[in-house]
This record gives sequence, C-alpha cells and structure tokens, in this order.
Amino acid sequence: MTADHQAPRLILAPLKGFTDVIFRDTFAQHFDGFDSAMAPFIATVAADRLTDKHVRDLLPNQNTRMPIEPQILGNTAEDFVFLARRLFDMGYPDVNWNLGCPFRPVTKKRRGSGLLPFPEQVDAFLSKTLPAIPGRLSIKMRLGRNTPDEILRLLPVLDRYPLKEITIHPRTARQMYTGSPDLEMFQACLDQIRHQVVYNGDITHLQGFHTLAARFPSVDSWMIGRGALSNPFLPAIIKKGRDGVTGKLEKFKAFYEDLFFRYQERLCGPGHLLNHLKGFWTYFAGAFENSEDIGKRIHRTFTLPRYIETISRFFAEEANWRK
Ligand SMILES: Cc1cc2nc3c(=O)[nH]c(=O)nc-3n(C[C@H](O)[C@H](O)[C@H](O)COP(=O)(O)O)c2cc1C
Repeated sequence: MTADHQAPRLILAPLKGFTDVIFRDTFAQHFDGFDSAMAPFIATVAADRLTDKHVRDLLPNQNTRMPIEPQILGNTAEDFVFLARRLFDMGYPDVNWNLGCPFRPVTKKRRGSGLLPFPEQVDAFLSKTLPAIPGRLSIKMRLGRNTPDEILRLLPVLDRYPLKEITIHPRTARQMYTGSPDLEMFQACLDQIRHQVVYNGDITHLQGFHTLAARFPSVDSWMIGRGALSNPFLPAIIKKGRDGVTGKLEKFKAFYEDLFFRYQERLCGPGHLLNHLKGFWTYFAGAFENSEDIGKRIHRTFTLPRYIETISRFFAEEANWRK
C-alpha cells in the first residue's frame, strides 16, 4: 500500500441465492479484502410465523469470519420491528431495510423498490419503526422504481431520520441490471443528502474503482457484488490499491473445492447441488479465458457426475485466469 492510499471500506453485497453463510465463510477463508457483508434479505412474516429457519443463515457462531449486517424486506412496521428485535437479541445491533429489490412480485406489493415512488408511505414506516427498534437502521436502495428522479423526492424524508447510512445502487428497478449506473444522479443524491452514502454498482476492476473513487471523493465505503463473484481477488486488489496476487488459478481452485464440499454437505440431493453450482459458474466463468465457451459447457451438464467431470477436465486442461 502506498503512503497516500487510504484503504476503502469494502462490503460484500447481498446476492440472494449466492452469498449465503456457506459462501461468505468459505470466501473469507480464502480471500481478503471485505470488511463485512450485507446478508441477503429475509422477508418479514407475521410474528407468529417467524421460525428459526428464517434466521438460520445469520447464526453468529457460523458467521465468525465475515461480520454481517442482516437485511429485511418488508413494508409493515410491526413485522419489521419484531424481526429487527429478534436479530438484535441474536447480536446484530444494525439492520438494513431493502428498498431496492426490483422483481415484480415484490414491487407490486409495494415492497423493495416498489416503495420508492411513495415517500409518504416510507415516512409513515420510518416514523413507526425507528423509535421501536433497539439498534440502528441502514437502507439499501435504487434510484427509483420507474424513473431515476424518484429518489430526489425521497431523500428529504430520509434526511429527517437518524440512519446509520444509505447504500445507493444508481439504477432504476425498471432497468434491472441493464444499461450503466447513473453516476450523475448518484452525484445529485450526494449533493442533497446528509447521511453517509455507500456506493454500489458495477465495480468489476481496479481501474474502474479508481475512476469512481476520484469522481466521488466524499464516499469512503463501497459495496461489491457480482464483480467479486467473478473475480474473488478483486476486493483485496482494491483494498491494497494494486494487483500483487500470484497463483490465482490454484487459489481459486482451492476455494471452489471447499465451496463444493460444503454445499454437498448442506444441500439435499444431487439435482439441487448441481443447479446451485451451475448458478455460481454464471459468474465464475467470467474470470477465465474463453469464458463463454466454458460457461455454455457447464450450463449444458444435466447430471452431477457429468458436471464434476466437466469441471475437473476444465481445471486440468484448459483453465487460464484472465482477470
Ligand atoms: C442474484 C442477485 C441477488 C440479489 N439479492 C439481493 C438481496 O437479497 N438484497 C439486496 O439488497 N440486493 C440484492 N441484489 C442486488 C445486489 O446486492 C447489488 O445491489 C447489485 O448486484 C449491484 O451491485 P454489483 O454490480 O456490485 O453486483 C441481488 C442481485 C443479484 C444479481
């Protein structure tokens, strides 16, 4: 690290279906760089329906390698408070409110980014929730559900409440993951808001990170999701400000093998394991030369033995790290 390099705070983004406790723990065992992770959302349920299964991935004794902040998806203050208190009792003082989820079944119920066009409903939720939860609240949000300026009507509401920080992924829900993050609107948010802001979206390499860090000097915390799945060395490289990592292929292979065995222990049935691992390769493949080719071949394996054979042959004969 050079003398003038201020190490940024890096947070692993929540990716439901991917960054569960097994992934986070295995990742932290093999790679450096992240200071913490935000866990994928738990949806609120009525208090009498909340079971241990809902919070199974958040048990503190299984989350020792990477500190986490739990995330809640919901729009009912009572159910949110009940869950936040349960998490507080488990040892989590801070919880995050998901105002970003873009999927229609969620948004049509005015949850996730479905709440972004309704500042008065957000206001009512916060006025009930904040006095009733024992710890701090942070928010993770997109710019809007339909248009990027929805956030500008929401920020004055958020500014009236004490929040830990706000993570902004500068896309609308309608965009899903298409197009680019709207950096001008992100700047407009920074100009307007009094809360600490975490930047999130499309950080995939060191140079891109440097460009963002130079453009937004007031931001010192950065959340990385897909970029860390397709290049797990990225957080350490950004943290150090340079890429000094050697033996990447061997290190990645050791990580992958641990991940495989841990999921094999946890997931029931070969089909479930196969689908889960194939999902990871939609990201992992991007780290290698000929990524499209290997991505397609893995996608076309329909039995676990065939999948294992394809991966073994890939590692033994062709894998070339390109990132
Ligand atoms: C498969 C998948 C699952 C996601 N799950 C969540 C989630 O549970 N909570 C959340 O706030 N965001 C979720 N997101 C959004 C990411 O946290 C992040 O905001 C988005 O991927 C942009 O960051 P990135 O470009 O660094 O990946 C998810 C994204 C993906 C692709």
